[in-house]
Amino acid sequence: PVPGNHVIVLFGATGDLARRKLLPGLFHLAKAGLMPSRYRIVGSAPAQAALTDDAFREHARRAVREFGSAQPEGAAWQEFEAALSFGAADPGAAEPLLDAVRRAEREVGGEPGRLFHLAVPPVAFTSVVEMLADIGLADRGRVIVEKPFGTDLASARALDATIHAVFDETRVFRIDHFLGKESVDNILALRFANGLFEPVWNRDHISHVQIDVPERIGIEGRARFFEGTGTFRDMVVTHLFQILGFVAMEPPTRLAARELRDEKENVFQSLLPVDPAHVVRGQYDGYRTEPGVDPASDTETFVALRVDIDNWRWAGVPFYLRTGKSLGQGRHVVTLAFKEPALRMFPDLDHARTHTRHNELVIDFDDPGSITVRFLVKEPGPAMRLEPADMVFRYADSFAMRHALEGYERLLLDAMLGDQSLFTRSDGIERLWEVSAPLLADPPPVRPYAQGSWGPDGTGRLIEPHRWYLPDRS
Ligand code: BG6
Repeated sequence: PVPGNHVIVLFGATGDLARRKLLPGLFHLAKAGLMPSRYRIVGSAPAQAALTDDAFREHARRAVREFGSAQPEGAAWQEFEAALSFGAADPGAAEPLLDAVRRAEREVGGEPGRLFHLAVPPVAFTSVVEMLADIGLADRGRVIVEKPFGTDLASARALDATIHAVFDETRVFRIDHFLGKESVDNILALRFANGLFEPVWNRDHISHVQIDVPERIGIEGRARFFEGTGTFRDMVVTHLFQILGFVAMEPPTRLAARELRDEKENVFQSLLPVDPAHVVRGQYDGYRTEPGVDPASDTETFVALRVDIDNWRWAGVPFYLRTGKSLGQGRHVVTLAFKEPALRMFPDLDHARTHTRHNELVIDFDDPGSITVRFLVKEPGPAMRLEPADMVFRYADSFAMRHALEGYERLLLDAMLGDQSLFTRSDGIERLWEVSAPLLADPPPVRPYAQGSWGPDGTGRLIEPHRWYLPDRS
């Protein structure tokens, strides 16, 4: 599907996200033939960071060259470049932006859709949204909002109130780029298009679930953002809980935005409040001496926690979540561990050795991702000796991946199409802050961990008698 004609306005056009993801992503969409037949992209930033149209094109070219999957060359690039312009905007002084948008709309012709992407720090959300209303651009517009969606329940509500004063919820696209990842979307296909998995996808058969997103990178110079945020807010309240929503939801009655998001919301409603006793917070050695970090900082760069979903499908099945910076590997892995069979009929089975190695379904959503089913087989020979074996599906082995889109690309396309399925909704976000409140009010102290390790002491104990799938069982 190709969206109708559009003018896209990128607030924060000179910032990091636009450079790394948005400009390269829009160009990739254009190359893939997925942009509207007529479109313009207007970059915007406060006057002090204003660029001329030409300087913005040069900025985009460099961004695409450095971060894009396709080089900025040839007819495709020329066409894309010609669609770029710039208009500075500050509250009360937005004429350059208004002029640029009007010009872009004239060039596109008719009444193009307006898509505003707020790639700006949260403190700027309110002023940008209010400015859009003041200058009369908000109607016909959709708005893409970047995380964090508040820092607790009260601030999330206040943010929603500000946005809803201008854009009703059907026009608000809260972006969580994990939901644009191919293998996350594929959780829906795996579960609901197959008769094989869904019947065992519940407390009768599953002992526990792990959602594990270790990162190798540190905070990469983002101290200013990170110090006030920490890993729990940056990664768990957004990405990891959203994945949990997909793993745990009931089958939606239809594959449509409302039904899908209703089911995800139901999972969040059934989440029990996070118990600080089930949380390990960590901070990597050396974090406190990074530029911009408070030498006595209590900000966590690692968090592992257990959460419980109190509903008929999941009661009694713990969900273990783990993520952190400067860990041993950068991975994205969901593991469903199945219960042992009722009868231990294999006398030679070394339970101590295979205890954590029986049936698992492992969804690896690194790009491009894989799905592994792990089970026990008899080792050939006269004795009944069991060994773990894997059945593996790898995207790259089965598909040319020609049509694959990166998370942001998929979501930018969906926003132009007006499809909210993979975007988060205000009631869901508010509920996640609600269940997080006990931890935010009473966080356990941060424990140190070595860079390149798998987190602080206590990370293994949290999950006993089970074990983390990563690193040694992958
Ligand atoms: C971002 C976080 O949302 O996600 C970063 O702010 C994190 O701290 C990043 O590194 C991880 O995304 P991905 O897709 O690289 O795993």
